[in-house]
Amino acid sequence: MVFFKSSTKDIPAVAAVPAHIAIIMDGNGRWAKKRFLPRVAGHKQGVESLREAVKACDELGVKYLTLFAFSSENWRRPPEEVSFLMGLFLSALEREVVKLDKNGIRLKLIGRRDHFAPEIVRSIEAAEARTAANTGLTLTIAADYGGRWDILNAMQAMLKERPSLREGEIGEEDLAPYLAMSYAPEPDLFIRTGGEARVSNFLLWQLAYTEFYFTEAFWPDFDRAALEAAIASYRHRERRFGRTSEQLKDAAC
Ligand code: IPE
Ligand code: IPE
Ligand code: MG
Repeated sequence: MVFFKSSTKDIPAVAAVPAHIAIIMDGNGRWAKKRFLPRVAGHKQGVESLREAVKACDELGVKYLTLFAFSSENWRRPPEEVSFLMGLFLSALEREVVKLDKNGIRLKLIGRRDHFAPEIVRSIEAAEARTAANTGLTLTIAADYGGRWDILNAMQAMLKERPSLREGEIGEEDLAPYLAMSYAPEPDLFIRTGGEARVSNFLLWQLAYTEFYFTEAFWPDFDRAALEAAIASYRHRERRFGRTSEQLKDAAC
């Protein structure tokens, strides 16, 4: 397996299109409320935006797209909303997998699986297995995911496999292979829709040097043009990773 180095040490090549985009798809409930619809209507509409984002990223040459679908904290929502989201997740998974596979997309799920119903777990495993050999866009869905869970889980897995590791000996490169997204480079661009300017326990480790982009647009309104606007903003960023602007210019000569 290939492990990607941490962006805090290396300067990834800045390309016109980010290799990895991570999105917090937020604002479904408010989108629905604005239309006097139940919150769940927003979630349903959100699946359409998800489909469009996958298609656009695939066509634009993005290699990794990671979408936050359900956080470890979202279990705190009213039970009817949680159960609607679970149903939507299962039906979207089962419906979309054939098309994803046909388009060469590799599907990955990150997050805890032990709180999901057995049919959801079976469906996740089947979708991952079916698309595992695909070499196009890697689409990761974060479901029952939390950044703190990821780090703690990685720490526990690392210590289980390498019990001889001692305090003071553990480096970033020791932990990184055990993180949920060790198969992908760290995100270049993070997008959050819905107007909130927070990370909400998403990829805490992996976002260390990611470029952030916040938009007021609710997720169901986030279309291809909105995605392209986010990418255009990213293109104007200077990614210094602690260095000075002059050092970057010197390195480019
Ligand atoms: C994001 O939209 C979807 C999930 C968290 C599952 P929200 O449901 O959080 O929508 P708002 O933020 O209440 O508008
Ligand atoms: C974050 O959205 C999680 C997802 C989009 C799945 P929330 O709407 O749950 O975030 P907070 O709790 O308001 O920060
Ligand atoms: Mg929200």
